[in-house]
Amino acid sequence: MQETVRLGVVGLGGMGSGHLGYLTSLPGVTVTAVCDIVPERADAAAAKCGAQPFTDHEALLAHGVVDAVLIATPHYAHTPVAIHAFQAGKHVLCEKPLAVHVNDAQKMIDAYEHARAANPNLVFGIMFQERTAPAYRKLKDLLQGGELGRLTRVTWINTAWFRSQAYYDSGGWRATWGGEGGGILTNQCPHNLDMYQWLFGLPTRITGHASIGKYHHIEVEDEVTAYFEHEDGMIGHFIVSTAESPGVNRLEIVGEYGRVVLEDGKITFHRCRQSMLTFCRETKTLFDHVETWPTEIPYPHTESGHHLVTGKFLDAIRRAQPLDLIAHGPEGLRGVTLANGIMLSSFQQRPVPVPIDADAFEAQLRELVATSTFRKQAAPGEVVDFTASWAK
Ligand SMILES: NC(=O)c1ccc[n+]([C@@H]2O[C@H](COP(=O)([O-])OP(=O)(O)OC[C@H]3O[C@@H](n4cnc5c(N)ncnc54)[C@H](O)[C@@H]3O)[C@@H](O)[C@H]2O)c1
Repeated sequence: MQETVRLGVVGLGGMGSGHLGYLTSLPGVTVTAVCDIVPERADAAAAKCGAQPFTDHEALLAHGVVDAVLIATPHYAHTPVAIHAFQAGKHVLCEKPLAVHVNDAQKMIDAYEHARAANPNLVFGIMFQERTAPAYRKLKDLLQGGELGRLTRVTWINTAWFRSQAYYDSGGWRATWGGEGGGILTNQCPHNLDMYQWLFGLPTRITGHASIGKYHHIEVEDEVTAYFEHEDGMIGHFIVSTAESPGVNRLEIVGEYGRVVLEDGKITFHRCRQSMLTFCRETKTLFDHVETWPTEIPYPHTESGHHLVTGKFLDAIRRAQPLDLIAHGPEGLRGVTLANGIMLSSFQQRPVPVPIDADAFEAQLRELVATSTFRKQAAPGEVVDFTASWAK
């Protein structure tokens, strides 16, 4: 077993600094390199953790001082940094979203598979720390246990992502097609989109309505309603906004044996005494309902967070168990598919099938970048403290 992983952190803004904060207390890792295109950020981080500073990730990779990299750059840079890291034979833990669009995500997966042919123990993880949250783990457990029987509807209203204009103005890359590649679906919701596919799988058809800069002076989407159709007949609603305060985060799951609601950290199960689908078909009464019993489902409030995802990634490298992760990198393609599918449907004003037409989405995005006239006055050099946003 490898004793210590030599890690390089690429991107030292809000999230990269957040990762550095806990990395010093994790066992089995030494941060040997840090990288940011802003030299002062690289130097300051290097001085704090005794690592070597770089301003170019390719120089970092060529220097031979790391076994793995943690990528915490703006979204478009995830793709080249990850591909170069795989080409250099390094393990990769990538921040969410895996990429801005499906074609970029696929290129990263292809580079990983290619590198894995030479090194089968190469590890590719993605930072989906919400999968460690106890409430979501409990929902996964309930669904896997078949408690709800056949699922019929999922409705997720998450408008607890309120962001002010000052937030959008805080970084030059934020909320632009060229810098960020999208709005709420690309920045705030990758965790929710991953959670949706983790719990319910991918739909076969997506209908999306996205409002561009409806409540903020931005050129990307800040309010979205999507309708998902699944192969087995289940339907999903995904309603998100960065312009509601107070917002709500309510996940409602309906199945033949009842309704489970996760809201305010509480899981409530209205359990049917018998299958409502069978009852619906067979009862001779006209207006009776299935007998149901409300219960609050207890779950242990165990530890969760970014450090668990990183810790598992480092263990996977040290123990040469490349698939023993909280989230395997290639799974990130699924959330990107949902995000791109919603936007493609909204642009084309019609439902789109899954797998989506990735070339059509990329072409649309390129067009938006090329024709963008949006210019923002960003506050230069500021690092945003994101710890306040993690509690959502
Ligand atoms: N998992 C989470 O909970 C969570 C929370 C917030 C942000 N994020 C993700 O973390 C990533 C970074 O977001 P952030 O909020 O820290 O952004 P940020 O703007 O605060 O920081 C990005 C940093 O990357 C640097 N950078 C840009 N291009 C680079 C390159 N090619 N090489 C090296 N450094 C480069 C910038 O100079 C900046 O310092 C994004 O993918 C974002 O979605 C994840």
